[in-house]
Amino acid sequence: MARIGTDIKLAKDLLESGELVAIPTETVYGLAGNALSPDAVAKIFETKKRPSFDPLIVHTDSIEKVNDFVKEFPRPLKELANVFWPGPLTLLLPRKVSIPDLVTSGLDTVAVRIPSHSLTRSLLAELDFPLAAPSANPFGYISPTQASHVNDQLGAHIPYILDGGASEVGLESTIVGLEGDQVTVYRLGGLDVHQIEGIVGPVQVMAHSSSNPKSPGMLKSHYAPTKPFVLGDLDKLIEEYKKKGQVFAVLSFDKVFANLSERLQIRLSQTSDTQEAAKNLFAAMRALDSLDVSVILSELLPEEGLGRAVNDRLKRAAAIE
Ligand code: TXA
Ligand code: MG
Repeated sequence: MARIGTDIKLAKDLLESGELVAIPTETVYGLAGNALSPDAVAKIFETKKRPSFDPLIVHTDSIEKVNDFVKEFPRPLKELANVFWPGPLTLLLPRKVSIPDLVTSGLDTVAVRIPSHSLTRSLLAELDFPLAAPSANPFGYISPTQASHVNDQLGAHIPYILDGGASEVGLESTIVGLEGDQVTVYRLGGLDVHQIEGIVGPVQVMAHSSSNPKSPGMLKSHYAPTKPFVLGDLDKLIEEYKKKGQVFAVLSFDKVFANLSERLQIRLSQTSDTQEAAKNLFAAMRALDSLDVSVILSELLPEEGLGRAVNDRLKRAAAIE
């Protein structure tokens, strides 16, 4: 198993010698390696069992450093960076050749983010290279929001996990770029689209893989538990699965079901708060997935605030468009 702790010096030494380290961010934990080292980047793909056509996000701690590896910073994206960095926003920017092809899967843009978690920012400030980091989960599974999630799945393959507690936002970053002049969201995430529109005006959302060659990693079935995951009206689903005699668990937005064992249900927010639900989502999906049940029943949230991004993840878990 990996060592787990808060030793930034150890994390730095390992990264400088080409090793991978799991890092906490406010969105989810990342599996980090030196973004300028093709060998370290190759190790990331191998450890995650991630197909090489799915490019990585490059993390750094200042806009000056971003300028070292992007050719230009188009104005509307710069405005978003100024307002929302550090934070749960990833920008697709024209890349310089200093970024290895493997990081971008040969695309002419590079995905860049300045995360806000203080431990990871301190680490980035000490390094003289940026960190490539996908979410620290095996490809296709639910992203980790706690150090223990990383350890459970990747602990045997990495030397160190920097422990920054539970991720505050709990959903991956919102990915934004340009289609021509049009600001475009390629992945719904921890930064609400309305907040983006408040700065740059109306944006288009192209967050599904089938219509979205530009974000190759956005496969329909993703963020998925190993158990079948069914979405619908929970009262009806519970009735239906009881009749079928199947053992199920329930993931609800804000309800508790008195006729079900407490052990078999998780409510994402007692106060019907979509932000709190986002923070709890992935840990709840993992917990239910580890129970001895044959199916997980769930429901969609209201499409407001982070509800829209949570619903995107729930639909991907259920593998429906
Ligand atoms: O919140 C996050 O974004 C986390 C933390 C660790 O920063 N990272 C994360 O990385 O979610 P990952 O690799 O699981 O998802 C990155 C997504 C993929 O869907 C990938 O296809 C897309 O970003 N992506 C990366 N580079 C791209 C590019 N140049 N053009 C289009 N999509 C890109
Ligand atoms: Mg991921």
